[in-house]
Amino acid sequence: MPIFSKVGVVGAGTMGHGIAEVAAIAGYQVYLSDVSQDILNSALEKIKWSLQKLKESGKLKESVETIISRIKPTTNLSDFADADYIIEAVVENSEVKRKVFSELDGIVKPNAIFATNTSTIPISTLAEATKRQDKFIGLHFMNPPVLMPLVEIIMGNKTSQQTLEITIEFAKSIGKDYVIVKKDVPGFLINRINGRTFAEAILMYDEGYQKEDIDAMTRFRLGMPMGFLELLDFTGIDVSYNAALEAIKRGEKEPPHFKVLKKMVEDGRLGVKSGKGFYTYKSKIYERPKIVPTDNMYLINPLRIIAPAVNEAAWLIRNNISSAEDIEKGMIKGMSWPQGPLTFADKFGIDNIVNFLEQRYHDTGNDYYNPDPLLKEMVEQKKLGVKSGEGFFKWNYERVDFGPVRYEKLHDYAKITMRRAEKLNALNEAMWTGLTQAFNKAKEDKDVRAVIITGEGRAFCAGDDIEMMHYWENTASVIEWSQKISSPLIDTLANYPKPIIAEVNGLAFGGGMELLILFDIVIASEDATFAIPEGLIGALPPLASSMGVGFVSRKIARYALTGEWLSAKQAKELGLVDIVVPPEQLEITGVEIVEKVKRVAPLSSMSIKRVINSIRNSYLDKLQIASQELTILSTTEDFKEGMKAFIERRQPKYKGK
Ligand code: NAI
Repeated sequence: MPIFSKVGVVGAGTMGHGIAEVAAIAGYQVYLSDVSQDILNSALEKIKWSLQKLKESGKLKESVETIISRIKPTTNLSDFADADYIIEAVVENSEVKRKVFSELDGIVKPNAIFATNTSTIPISTLAEATKRQDKFIGLHFMNPPVLMPLVEIIMGNKTSQQTLEITIEFAKSIGKDYVIVKKDVPGFLINRINGRTFAEAILMYDEGYQKEDIDAMTRFRLGMPMGFLELLDFTGIDVSYNAALEAIKRGEKEPPHFKVLKKMVEDGRLGVKSGKGFYTYKSKIYERPKIVPTDNMYLINPLRIIAPAVNEAAWLIRNNISSAEDIEKGMIKGMSWPQGPLTFADKFGIDNIVNFLEQRYHDTGNDYYNPDPLLKEMVEQKKLGVKSGEGFFKWNYERVDFGPVRYEKLHDYAKITMRRAEKLNALNEAMWTGLTQAFNKAKEDKDVRAVIITGEGRAFCAGDDIEMMHYWENTASVIEWSQKISSPLIDTLANYPKPIIAEVNGLAFGGGMELLILFDIVIASEDATFAIPEGLIGALPPLASSMGVGFVSRKIARYALTGEWLSAKQAKELGLVDIVVPPEQLEITGVEIVEKVKRVAPLSSMSIKRVINSIRNSYLDKLQIASQELTILSTTEDFKEGMKAFIERRQPKYKGK
């Protein structure tokens, strides 16, 4: 419902004609002005085309003719005399804009409100051209105004509360959600954060990363709708360049990516409009570059994009410019981010964000990366995000220790950590039992959608504790161990209803490598090592030689029969590991995979797991054979010799009996 009758829109270009259309759809009488009748005619054509599209898709209540009849085109600003609310959308030039406002000030009734759609010019600079600075505000639409659901409302230095309230009501009346920027800072909310993230994508390109890998990372790891380089091409490299140039002219420090933008503009690489930017566009028309997931996208740390965005967001909050809720809404509704930067931060961990920024600050010396005091304070107060129950937002958190196994509920997933770092998280009785208890707890909690398992220290898990195995006295004690200690965990895992994600942080040997066969998604740090060396100490790897060879790969036979070590990359080739990342990315990649797993419908996820488990279970009879073999081996002299030699750190002398 209109809150007054007449709206004026100055400038009928890309934004102006869209704003006029939005206002007319909402029932306002609209004056639309530009410098020539030709421009206005073309604007009306575009509005008509757009309205017809909306009508075809059933989104318009009224006829196209009724709506268009509300728009009065004019080249004469004096026609705006009785307008109640005027939105300026002329070229991004402060001289031109000031001139328009100064002229309007003398024409329009004194209580009318002036709003500017500027992207970069301080609102107060423009307000000063009028005698109604209290009735002057920023109203920043997104392109295209008809489709984008959000506007930014920016307070100038002298904007009154009443002007803000009327503008909020106006935004609502035209069907837009809004975010409020309480202080007149350049770039406002959305473009300040965009500026940080786009800069990072450009810098990575300049550092030699392939454009396809950068964009694959933003799309397929962070879930952004477009690659950022693709998006920069779409909006125009010159647009980013000019915005940066304006900031420099205002006295801001030259941003680190400015040189790249300048060179691209000098070379005529303006993006889609010139046929070449980061990508090439044959007919100067936007065609989506072919961006597909790549292995290399896992080499690029997503925090390159997220950490600077969070740093900027923290600055906005600390300076009381925008609220955390508005920052989230701004990036989700204004830029179609899958979640806001602060939610990303809470999920990835505020400590990880701060560490990353500090490292970048140290490496580059650019205070662009100096972590905002708010972030540092949050780390000091242990407000680390999901992992501590509170960050920018509150999260459900629970912690229980089952002996050496720590269980943590991280809002909607669980993290299980093996914590016997001094013994390389070797599987003694307490570890086996603790793991069974922790997995069962995660299974029973309805909120938990997925489970992450990892190890503390330099190992994921060194496998069965040899000291414990050494004390297996006879066949009966081995069978008892298997029934009471190991089988409950193996049964639990082989029938587990929720996705299990392993973060292999280091050495995964013997049982530590074998358990991976029972997990669904395995992420490994690139410096992790793997081996199933049981044969070298007179035993055998039961899971690997049975279910592993059948369910994962025949190639496991080689490693069971030689005891050779594997790198993370080789383990990936084997099919045991799915994703290999640099060590500093392990934790956040786990978070990323949890996010992806959560997108799958819960019932689908459970069905998929039932099918997978049925295949795993079809190898249980083979595992049975392996267990029998192990029991027999455990009674041999060679087994005793193998254990002894291992503990005494010497080569075993096998006799074959
Ligand atoms: P545009 O170049 O498409 O349109 C500007 C229009 O203003 C032109 O038609 C021009 O003839 C007209 N104009 C120039 N001087 C005028 C005057 N004295 N009186 C009346 N009309 C005049 O530019 P665009 O993209 O529509 O941008 C307009 C404003 O919106 C700029 O401040 C820009 O920063 C801002 N903006 C642009 C967005 C975009 O994606 N293009 C997004 C959000 C804001």
